[in-house]
Amino acid sequence: MTRRLIILGTGGNCFDIVDAVHAINAISPRFDIAGFLDDAAHRQNSTVYGYPVLGTLPDACRWDNCDFVNGIGSPANFFRKDQIIATTGLSADRFATVIHPSSAVSKSAVIGNGSVLLANTTVCAGATIGCHAMVLPGTTVSHDCRIGDHVCVASGVVLCAGVTAEDLCYLGAGCTVLGGRTVGQGALVGAGSVVVRDVAQGTVVCGNPAAFLRTVQ
Ligand SMILES: CC(C)(COP(=O)(O)OP(=O)(O)OC[C@H]1O[C@@H](n2cnc3c(N)ncnc32)[C@H](O)[C@@H]1OP(=O)(O)O)[C@@H](O)C(=O)NCCC(=O)NCCS
Repeated sequence: MTRRLIILGTGGNCFDIVDAVHAINAISPRFDIAGFLDDAAHRQNSTVYGYPVLGTLPDACRWDNCDFVNGIGSPANFFRKDQIIATTGLSADRFATVIHPSSAVSKSAVIGNGSVLLANTTVCAGATIGCHAMVLPGTTVSHDCRIGDHVCVASGVVLCAGVTAEDLCYLGAGCTVLGGRTVGQGALVGAGSVVVRDVAQGTVVCGNPAAFLRTVQ
């Protein structure tokens, strides 16, 4: 029995979610994609990536008997991802977890409700990932890492053992966080950076070694 699925957002990550769902369904049919919800006026009544845009996020509660998954979360809005999802008015149990079948996820890892793991992600023993997190292709989450709620982990990130990524932070493409370090709540690590010391909440750091650039706004 498949579940209808609605994807929040129409950005590139959302199309990657469509591909992940197709890959899941190719093994065992699980979801029937109904379409997208997006607040952008120019997206309304359009079709993107083969599926209709059904309305805006506040329209979500009109859709009974289906699951949702969030694909919104970019360097421009990551720090308010919780507020964006809250505009749907949906309860936590309405969200599905989408894991691309090419991912390698340890039996002892815990993945929270509504989170997305895209192609070729690796989540090692004892790692935990919170709710509404998004992990983009080719990322490695080493053993005993703790990824909070609403975290965005871009493509090709390497989190060494025991890293903590607090709620609402953004780890830019290809960055590396050394073992045991903490990236604070709502912080952003720039693409390709190497984090060698803890990152303060609400700050942007970049470079190798990663250094303070500015505060998040
Ligand atoms: C870190 C980041 C947010 C900075 O953006 P910004 O505030 O607009 O900063 P600017 O582009 O104006 O750059 C400011 C300075 O930081 C440097 N810089 C920017 N990003 C950098 C990075 N990732 N690593 C090293 N230095 C960086 C710039 O060269 C510039 O240096 P200068 O002042 O000496 O010329 C952005 O560059 C970034 O890395 N975003 C993440 C993108 C990403 O991972 N996307 C994933 C999509 S899949």
